[in-house]
Amino acid sequence: MSRFPVKAGPFATAALAIRALAILALAVIVAVAANGAMTADAPLRGQAPQGRPGNVELTTFPAEWTYRPGVPAPRAEHGMVASNCALATEAGVEILKAGGNAVDAAVATGFALAVAYPEAGNIGGGGYAVLRLAGGQTAALDYRETAPAGASRNMFIGADGKPTDASLVGHLASGVAGSVAGLLALLEKHGTLPRARVMAPAIRLARDGFVVDAIFRESVAQNAKLVGRFAGAALFLPGGQPPAIGARFVQADLAQTLERIARDGRDGFYKGPVAAALVGEMSRGGGIITSSDLAGYQPAWRTPITSSYRGHGLIAMPPSSSGGITLVETLNILETWPQAAPWGSAAALHRLTSAFQRAFVDRNEMLGDPAFVKMPLERLASKAYAKELRAGIRDDRASPTSALKPAPRESRETTNYAVVDRWGSAVAITTTINSLYGSGVWVPGGGFFLNNEMDDFAAQPGTANQFGLVQGESNAVAPGKRMLSAMAPTIVLDPKGSVEMLIGGRGGPRIITAVVQAIVNVIDHRMTLADAVGAPRIHHQALPDVLEYEKGGVAADVVTALGAMGYSTKPGGTGSLTAIRRTATGWEGLFDPRKHGLASGY
Ligand code: DON
Repeated sequence: MSRFPVKAGPFATAALAIRALAILALAVIVAVAANGAMTADAPLRGQAPQGRPGNVELTTFPAEWTYRPGVPAPRAEHGMVASNCALATEAGVEILKAGGNAVDAAVATGFALAVAYPEAGNIGGGGYAVLRLAGGQTAALDYRETAPAGASRNMFIGADGKPTDASLVGHLASGVAGSVAGLLALLEKHGTLPRARVMAPAIRLARDGFVVDAIFRESVAQNAKLVGRFAGAALFLPGGQPPAIGARFVQADLAQTLERIARDGRDGFYKGPVAAALVGEMSRGGGIITSSDLAGYQPAWRTPITSSYRGHGLIAMPPSSSGGITLVETLNILETWPQAAPWGSAAALHRLTSAFQRAFVDRNEMLGDPAFVKMPLERLASKAYAKELRAGIRDDRASPTSALKPAPRESRETTNYAVVDRWGSAVAITTTINSLYGSGVWVPGGGFFLNNEMDDFAAQPGTANQFGLVQGESNAVAPGKRMLSAMAPTIVLDPKGSVEMLIGGRGGPRIITAVVQAIVNVIDHRMTLADAVGAPRIHHQALPDVLEYEKGGVAADVVTALGAMGYSTKPGGTGSLTAIRRTATGWEGLFDPRKHGLASGY
């Protein structure tokens, strides 16, 4: 029996119309189901659904994607810390609860990371901090490493004319560490608690030790080859093996170093026995960092980059990191489309990629240490320049990177963490020794690993570094120069100007592309913080001219569509993020499901 029998009379027309609508609805359901979009975890593709306000679409991840949407993030009412290491997060929360502000807690977290997360947390590396203080004041601190005075342009080029691996492994790979000077400068200028109090959790963790868990053991095990080549082997690989799960891991040398810093301030690291231990290790291994390099190290307060994306404010890190400029340039280009394309669609990924390509062409060619390179930063960060770049993007075609020109000149480890306090101050920090366990060199008597940040320079302009970045003269090695970074600790403000989100990550150039996508996911696609970070991501850094996507994260038909537009695509990696976001009653925070960590507060 037909559900809509056509009868003669006044209802016939209505019945016919209802039947037609039912058939149309069925056809739509069949078409959508055939497209895979009716399964719970499939993306909606094509146009934004009609009848929804603004550009809101129902976004779900491809069925093959690793993480399910809808996982809640931990919440806290007053203050929150998110980092890649549970013990370090707890150190920060301890300081918040003791009455410290976000800066006190960030410094405590930073020193604790150096103890309990040695793959990336450090006192032998450097970093960047972006701050927005309770009164609305913003600040940025650059405590990036500098090239030693004895560094030279071709120091990493071998007799065969090719780059060697000395920028990555061993004593020549290290820049002069900035972390201790940076953390102490933050504390002195914007902290409220005494040095000894904020360093107490880190000193405790080093002196009394912590219980080795599976994450710590695995980290050491995976890097045993590198660590085993240098003096850290005795501590980190006792009997040739990584520490056993359940064992207590005590770092006596590091405890002593931290106690010295707590007592003597920066001189406890840059002068005296710790500096002597570092310089001694350099001479043993053929390194070039001298005591005057150490004594002369200075962090730099900089004016943060301020910009906006669709009415939300952005506070980002200026050079010597490329992070802020590159993310702002990308977001400015994306903003030229008044409405975002549906999440996960070929159109959305094409726009993102086209924007990344252009921003990275400028980054790779033009950016470097501001003390050495003149950069058209205002132009790069301007909405007008983004419009010019947008004019060169076709809706239906990829642009080969080789066809893109940088703006004219005018005349693999890292960890991000974020802290907010009950007064509304926010601190976003990314710190690194570059690769996991840096150069592998460990300073006996000092108790810490040294960075291999020298590889972030263009060892040979035009030749790729460990991240595949092909960079130019602006980032060539020079004595005293800071190597260009991609670290991008960023604070997002809501349209009324209050802190809305803190975000940053690890992954070299993949930091920038990951941070941009999380911001876009929150602002354009109205995702929860957990979904915005857990969503699959793409990456493009201009060269190599390849659009990478996380396996299972882009629907097969979208990959095909991108190929048809002229993209060369392949599965690849992304950065990993940590973030905090304001809720109606406080804060939520999280670490990327791709990595480890803890977000916690009170
Ligand atoms: O400063 C930079 O851009 C790099 N040294 C960051 C390295 C990094 O993120 C490694 N982490 N996976």
